[in-house]
Amino acid sequence: MKKLTNRILIISSGFLILTIGISYFLYSFSKAQYPGCATEIPQNFCGTVSPNLTDNATEGKKIFNINCAACHKLDKNMTGPALRGIHSRREFPYENYLFDFITKEDSLNKINDRYTKILNEEYNYKFDHNFHLTKIEFEYLMEYIK
Ligand code: HEC
Repeated sequence: MKKLTNRILIISSGFLILTIGISYFLYSFSKAQYPGCATEIPQNFCGTVSPNLTDNATEGKKIFNINCAACHKLDKNMTGPALRGIHSRREFPYENYLFDFITKEDSLNKINDRYTKILNEEYNYKFDHNFHLTKIEFEYLMEYIK
């Protein structure tokens, strides 16, 4: 009788250890699907991606943060004016004006562009926007601040 009890005890402990082992094994796999928030790829559930932004606008936000955020905010004037909805607030002289203004304001100043003069006189901080942005980066940026 005692022998049988021992055997049952040994078998059930073995079973228990096996179950724990398998659980841990499976757990270590499931962890790989949920990387922590300190990853380079932004995770939606970590709050590093604004859920309302399109992919292009998210790209635009990055470009904005690198190049423009030192002086501009979207909704508040800082060194430069607030930029959200700038297209609808202003009437730019020609369709690609804003691209020219942001990528080569110095050229516009050189040819004494009237509208650029007005802009510069309106704000008392003098800064020439000569950013090296491609057309597509500019489009992303506009998608973000529209
Ligand atoms: C060093 C500060 C600074 C940085 C960086 C900067 N700006 Fe500006 N921005 C200004 C100032 C100052 C003005 C006011 C007009 C002027 O002086 O040219 C302005 C004006 C503007 C205007 C015209 C606003 C209007 O009322 O029509 C736009 C559009 C603009 N900036 C976009 C950008 C974008 C996009 C970037 C980033 C790629 C950027 N700026 C980076 C300072 C800055």
